[in-house]
Amino acid sequence: MFLPDNTIPLLLQGYAWLPQLRRRASGEVVHTRVGGQRAVALRGPDAARFFYDEDHVERHTALPGPIKSTLFGHGAVHTLDGTGHRVRKAMFLSLLTGDGIGSLVRYTTAAWDEAAASWADGRRVVLFDEAAAILARGVCRWTGIPLAESEVPALASDLVAMVDGFATPGSRHWRARTARARREAWLRYLVEYVRDGVATVPAGSALDVVAHHRDADGEQLDPHTAAVELLNIIRPTTAVCWFVSFAAHALHRWPRHRAPLREGDDAFAEAFTHEIRRFYPFAPFLGGRAVRDLTWRGEKIPARSLVLLDVYGQHHDPALWKEPYTFDPRRFIGREIDAFELIPQGGGDPAAGHRCPGEAITVALLKALSMRLAQLDYDVPEQDLDISLRRIPARPASGFVLTGARAAA
Ligand code: HEM
Repeated sequence: MFLPDNTIPLLLQGYAWLPQLRRRASGEVVHTRVGGQRAVALRGPDAARFFYDEDHVERHTALPGPIKSTLFGHGAVHTLDGTGHRVRKAMFLSLLTGDGIGSLVRYTTAAWDEAAASWADGRRVVLFDEAAAILARGVCRWTGIPLAESEVPALASDLVAMVDGFATPGSRHWRARTARARREAWLRYLVEYVRDGVATVPAGSALDVVAHHRDADGEQLDPHTAAVELLNIIRPTTAVCWFVSFAAHALHRWPRHRAPLREGDDAFAEAFTHEIRRFYPFAPFLGGRAVRDLTWRGEKIPARSLVLLDVYGQHHDPALWKEPYTFDPRRFIGREIDAFELIPQGGGDPAAGHRCPGEAITVALLKALSMRLAQLDYDVPEQDLDISLRRIPARPASGFVLTGARAAA
């Protein structure tokens, strides 16, 4: 079958690219070509289950070099499969689930409270940037990475740049590469100092664990890979600033959601974070490669073709969500969420597959910071709050500016 290359439409249409191809497709699957490669796109919980089966789809051959050079880093856990993946992933899960979450939230909310006290002087606050700095400060403290207060803004800006530039060929992409090279070099030295005993770190901290982790071959990570994996903790934690700016956007557009957050309604707050992660665009789709000839609902997927899981399309599919374009946190109250249904951070079992190990941390941080935001009164001056679906990753154009922040009366 002749399939024209769709790379330019992807770059132009962003999140709408796969949903639009799907509307024009005759069946449940999109057959296309991207970056010169045959690609098949799927969506829905059953498709996600199919995608996460290692007998169907592998990851290590599918990640494009430019994404490794910006977002994840070369040699990262994202690029592994099989036993190598499982051993490295267990290190992340040991750090990012369980008891550690509470202390990360405490460090970060303390950083928020300190920053919010300084907003009371009436100054203009760009919430996206402030949240990035707060999160970077909190996560570095938690990780055991020494960081002077004066170094926080530059680090936060580098960590944001790595995420902001992964999906674009222009200047944002080059900023991302430069930021990654700078921060990998910084953390590589830190890992070497820790191993040599020159720097002391709190026992059991992420810095300590990553520096001394042994991979499936029994060897310590080389210092570069250790730096890459430390960045894979502090970069995505800082990226929760995207969701914080979306939370502010949602509270501005639909102010009725402020009251239950302000009153400390825990079940509502949790549902609010899920709805933020469903409704607003972040990861557009996930990619892997078919390990052999496959068939999905009668459609052929040739061996070695790319298999794309349309995350944004799945979250806005009217067959799965009642009124998907309505922001309604209550849709998540009082029910279980299937492991393949809500997939902003991947699907399935994080220990067995590539699902994000930082999901519990993301939910806990977003919940705590959304509740704190709701407890403030502030003005929202005239600004561009447009969230363009053509820009990956999307964000409110202004970064969400607020003024006159004060504790709610
Ligand atoms: C993987 C999204 C926060 C660490 C992923 C994946 C997505 C994702 C889509 C890939 C899933 C897949 O390929 O199947 C997000 C979003 C976040 C976030 C939107 C919030 C801004 C975090 C946090 C951490 C983290 C807070 C760590 C503290 C990782 C790691 C992986 C990953 C290490 C690779 C897992 C693997 O390949 O097995 N994330 N994530 N993420 N995430 Fe997150």
